Amino acid sequence: MANADKFKKVIAHAKEYGFVFQSSEIYDGLSAVYDYGQNGSELKNNIKRYWLDSMVKLHENIVGIDSAIFMHPTVWKASGHVGAFNDPLIDNKDSKKRYRADVLIEDFVEKINIKIKKDIAKAKKRFGDAFDEKEFRSTNGRILDRQKKIDEILLRFKTAMEKEDLADVKQIIIDNGIICPVSGSKNWTDVRQFNLMFDTKLGSVSEEADVIYLRPETAQGIFVNYLNVQKTGRMKLPFGIAQIGKAFRNEIVARQFIFRMREFEQMEMQFFIRPGEEDKWFEYWKSLRMKWHEALGLGKEKYRFHDHENLAHYAKAATDIEFDFPFGFKELEGIHSRTDFDLSQHQEFSGKKLQYFDPELNKSYVPYVIETSIGVDRMFLTVLATSFEEEEIKKENGKIETRTVLRIPPALAPIKAAILPLMKKDGLAEKAREILDDLKYDFNCQYEEKDSIGKRYRRQDAIGTPYCITVDHQTLEDETVTIRERDTMQQERVEIRKLSSIIDGKVNFKNLFKKLR
Ligand code: GAP
Repeated sequence: MANADKFKKVIAHAKEYGFVFQSSEIYDGLSAVYDYGQNGSELKNNIKRYWLDSMVKLHENIVGIDSAIFMHPTVWKASGHVGAFNDPLIDNKDSKKRYRADVLIEDFVEKINIKIKKDIAKAKKRFGDAFDEKEFRSTNGRILDRQKKIDEILLRFKTAMEKEDLADVKQIIIDNGIICPVSGSKNWTDVRQFNLMFDTKLGSVSEEADVIYLRPETAQGIFVNYLNVQKTGRMKLPFGIAQIGKAFRNEIVARQFIFRMREFEQMEMQFFIRPGEEDKWFEYWKSLRMKWHEALGLGKEKYRFHDHENLAHYAKAATDIEFDFPFGFKELEGIHSRTDFDLSQHQEFSGKKLQYFDPELNKSYVPYVIETSIGVDRMFLTVLATSFEEEEIKKENGKIETRTVLRIPPALAPIKAAILPLMKKDGLAEKAREILDDLKYDFNCQYEEKDSIGKRYRRQDAIGTPYCITVDHQTLEDETVTIRERDTMQQERVEIRKLSSIIDGKVNFKNLFKKLR
């Protein structure tokens, strides 16, 4: 199935099975804002739990906080967001479509990259085992020309952005003949900066109200609480503060479902360290965050690092963990070496000291910070899109049937087990409810008695339930049930008293955490 088709199916499936709904759908929706349904909110909560526990439970020196969305307006001046949290935007005069100029340029560069990859793939095929990619890249004329072009474009773009030379950003688009994907024309407006923060007013009388911002990242809530947490928690460097919360950005181009939203959730951790140790900790967090992703088993080949050419205003070094979404490799998580930029800025703007007394060095300093920052919604999309599968299965009568299954990592599945009485009568429903009553304290279970057992299995497959437990007449005689596993569809007869440990063995977060050691 082509990726675009699959993505459409995933979006439709997300709605049909109560994962994601368009916000305010009965009013025709609100662009780039989404609601999570009964299954989606469970999956989202499990993702958040996996993240927060991996930070706070598994690290003695990381604690969690929950700071407010509204913050003093000066926070955003100090952080640089008022002045620099802009995207360069450009309109195509023919299609009237608006684009981020940087994205147009990056997409163009990616096209050249794809050509390089094709050349390499061809050469690999031709030379077989003797092929040496490194040598080929450094000697093949065509590849060298293409790579040179990429490097020139990226360097020119970086310089133009640093000098705030928006005329040259437009000129890069013109010089490279970049066209509007909708109209096909090169009829562009000038490039201008657009601040992504939403503002609103605090106070009941509008004339007296102060303009405040909806936070565009949760990180600043951590920075302004650095000293509170360090002092009250008696934290010693290195230590981290983790937080999950809503963030808001007035994105110019919001598309690709929940990939780029105007209201979204972030999971961010700021790790405070001694200055000079930032490179070591940057590598540590890069490696650990990659392990966290890989532990889910969605496929190692789906992730890659992408170092930033164009650093954000606060960063010394930055890398993205990119994921192979149905629309290509895109940023899933950012890992940033933020130096002492934020704390120093808050120190300056607030006039309050934000330092750490290091007893080993016997001196005070502003700590450096390594940040890990991931969007919950993007993470949700990786799980949903990768776990969605349509497979053909042969029925007993020889007919081929399509089964739609979400192979969600079991620890993240919204429902862990469905309890299904074969029929309502003969006391089977009562027995099934008895089993449910026993399991429901430990696992999110669902009881279903409507429709044939086959249909009930399909419904559970479609929401990714790892186990279906069927109660039949034999259950009443010998206290056994059949347990059906989602991925293999294998059924096994087991004793009721063993159910809890069987389910736990599959869905416990421990299975994932052990892989992070
Ligand atoms: N504190 C640093 C920071 O906010 P960022 O790269 O702008 O860095 C971090 O954002 C992560 O937040 C991204 O990797 C992405 O997963 C998520 N994110 C950012 N903008 C988003 C949006 N408009 N919709 C959904 N997720 C978004």
